[in-house]
Amino acid sequence: MNIGILGAATVGQALARRLAAAGHEVVIANSRGPESLRELAMQLGNHVTAGQVTEALDNPVVILAVPWTRVRDVLTPEINWRGRVLIDATNIFTSYAPEFEVDDLGADSGSEIIARLAPAARVVKAFNTLPVKTMFAPVPVDGARRVLFVAGDDDDARAVVHRLIADSHLHPVSIGGLAVGGRLMQLGAPLSGLEFFTSPDMQSPA
Ligand SMILES: NC(=O)c1ccc[n+]([C@@H]2O[C@H](COP(=O)([O-])OP(=O)(O)OC[C@H]3O[C@@H](n4cnc5c(N)ncnc54)[C@H](OP(=O)(O)O)[C@@H]3O)[C@@H](O)[C@H]2O)c1
Repeated sequence: MNIGILGAATVGQALARRLAAAGHEVVIANSRGPESLRELAMQLGNHVTAGQVTEALDNPVVILAVPWTRVRDVLTPEINWRGRVLIDATNIFTSYAPEFEVDDLGADSGSEIIARLAPAARVVKAFNTLPVKTMFAPVPVDGARRVLFVAGDDDDARAVVHRLIADSHLHPVSIGGLAVGGRLMQLGAPLSGLEFFTSPDMQSPA
């Protein structure tokens, strides 16, 4: 699958490395241009190339891995999403250490805001509920898989994300659409930060 990743820090790098290792073609981008990422891209694997933001956006699957405060810089109105899958990995921090301030969205939710910023995209929330160092830490029991929650309004788009999560050696569990599932997965909500495990032979419908 051809995948664009917006953001080349902890999440962008971890997903690029694992998805490329599974055979996907990954274009990774940041705000400073591909030259700033060439060496990193080589370290991340044979199937990873550094690109402009526009090149990362020009893929059937795009992973959003930028700070919440930057999503409007990336998801600009002129992007033609044409039903492409947009995976929202963001958490609604307005600042990181040491303050770790969280945006006050009132009755709104982060993933629904993302969906409004990318109205013709099929938005799926995933890869946000655990810190990367936990997400890809060794499992406590041989053969177990760590659960990652998935929320989205489109069945086929969720199925695509299930495959990418499984290819990352994690276990996808869909919990509904953005309005309910996305809220449950949001920073500060009940499923944020929770670790669950299952055995890989358990199938979970997208
Ligand atoms: N860290 C984790 O363990 C973790 C886990 C789950 C979810 N998340 C969420 O995932 C997102 C990414 O987190 P992170 O820790 O990997 O990194 P981050 O510090 O939130 O994001 C930094 C990355 O975003 C890029 N970026 C910023 N503005 C951009 C723009 N306008 N266009 C393109 N790229 C831009 C930066 O590139 P430049 O250096 O060029 O600015 C850098 O590569 C965040 O929303 C975070 O809350 C993080």
